[in-house]
Amino acid sequence: MITANLPRIPTFDDWRRAARNMLALAAKPDEVVWRTEGETDLFARAPTPNLQPATPIFVSRAFIEVASKAALHSDPHRFALLYRILWRLQQNRALMDDAADRDIVHINALAKSVRRDEHKMHAFVRFKEITSADGPRYVAWFEPQHHIVAETAEFFVRRFTGMNWSIVTPEASAHWDGEALSFSPGGARTDVPAEDARDDDWRAYYESMFNPARLKVAAMKREMPKHYWRNMPETECIPDLIKSASTRTENMVAATPSSPRKRAGAAHAKIVPKDLPIRLEPVAEHAKPPASLNDLRRALQACRACPLWRDATQAVPGEGVEEEPLLALVGEQPGDQEDLAGHPFVGPAGKVLDRALEAAGIDRGELFATNAVKHFKHEPRGKRRLHMRPNASEVEICRWWVAHELAFVKPRLIVALGATALQSLSTYKGTLTKAREQTLKTREGAALRATVHPSYLLRLPDEDAREAEFARFVADLKQAKQVAERVRSVA
Ligand code: URA
Repeated sequence: MITANLPRIPTFDDWRRAARNMLALAAKPDEVVWRTEGETDLFARAPTPNLQPATPIFVSRAFIEVASKAALHSDPHRFALLYRILWRLQQNRALMDDAADRDIVHINALAKSVRRDEHKMHAFVRFKEITSADGPRYVAWFEPQHHIVAETAEFFVRRFTGMNWSIVTPEASAHWDGEALSFSPGGARTDVPAEDARDDDWRAYYESMFNPARLKVAAMKREMPKHYWRNMPETECIPDLIKSASTRTENMVAATPSSPRKRAGAAHAKIVPKDLPIRLEPVAEHAKPPASLNDLRRALQACRACPLWRDATQAVPGEGVEEEPLLALVGEQPGDQEDLAGHPFVGPAGKVLDRALEAAGIDRGELFATNAVKHFKHEPRGKRRLHMRPNASEVEICRWWVAHELAFVKPRLIVALGATALQSLSTYKGTLTKAREQTLKTREGAALRATVHPSYLLRLPDEDAREAEFARFVADLKQAKQVAERVRSVA
């Protein structure tokens, strides 16, 4: 047996280096023991580091994409699986395309579980405010299922650049001081305060976005698995909300419109940093362009150029791949859940979009996703917030933000999801149906395709029509991907 030694929390690159050595030694997969620091194996011996394989190693892009995620899984046998696939790839370059192969099924399942855990961490981390010598600091306790702290930390840096924060997990902790990201060993739940004032806001948000008429307990648990509940203050209300759902549904039907919740205003004030100069000017020409995408995100929170900020929790900036992604998807505006979470496409329309992207063979990790309008426009109905379409002037005012986002990101191709995004991005005057058939240009000259908005599919009452339209939506996305692969540069 040959031992491949890895650090205690190995990264994909650690594994790659070790795997290269194993191939150089021509070590067959069943001859290798993968050991992370701290484990012992009496029969193993260490190999010489940094060996040169006799022949070049073949790795496909598909393998790297999946393996780099699977390497973060908590399965102790993951590195052996990765190596077995790498070994087999040397004989069969098309192995990754064999969706029925047991190893490929397994690695895809590991990668999917890691992506899901990352997604949940993005959405479910709840910060508590503490006072430190350097002023307020935001700390959160989180229990990921896999080794994803380093991978997700970059996301939190982008999202909360202006805050000093720490995320403590049992395995490792990540810290941001406004300038540098650092890591330290894991901690305990008791390192983070159990309660703080904003927990009430989370509970109030959750209660207000909970729609008793749409309650599906199994689907809710799939979206918000119980594993994460204990660190999310809002989940305390779930049992009562479920119990009272049917009575509330009856009351809701009879409810008349009411004015916006006071709490939303209070929470909004917390999300907008106090030191931001408020941006009031409604047109772009005399507004100072932001120096970076992060500056833009920060400045966006202070936008008061139209009235939509008033009833929204926060502005929702675009996110995803920030440097020349294959595609940038532009939706209409954040919905109820996006407004609360601060991320685009995390609610029901986002779920449809995720399914369609998967069916089109597009990884959400290749995309930047944003919206034409950055604040959630809605009308109160009882305790619910009903989506309202932004009007032409709101779209026009917000165009400044989306145009600057796309100028920073430089996608190969932009996809307008629905008529509002098309109106914002281009001067095209035809129908959306006609627009779907061609590659257009944005006002700035970038390649643009258009398709329907995923929420259109949610609104179709008839199952057959929904299926047919979903298939067309998937076909549009595939076509966009193909065009993007042909387009060398935008603008
Ligand atoms: N609809 C959109 O257009 N964007 C989102 O982010 C969510 C729903």
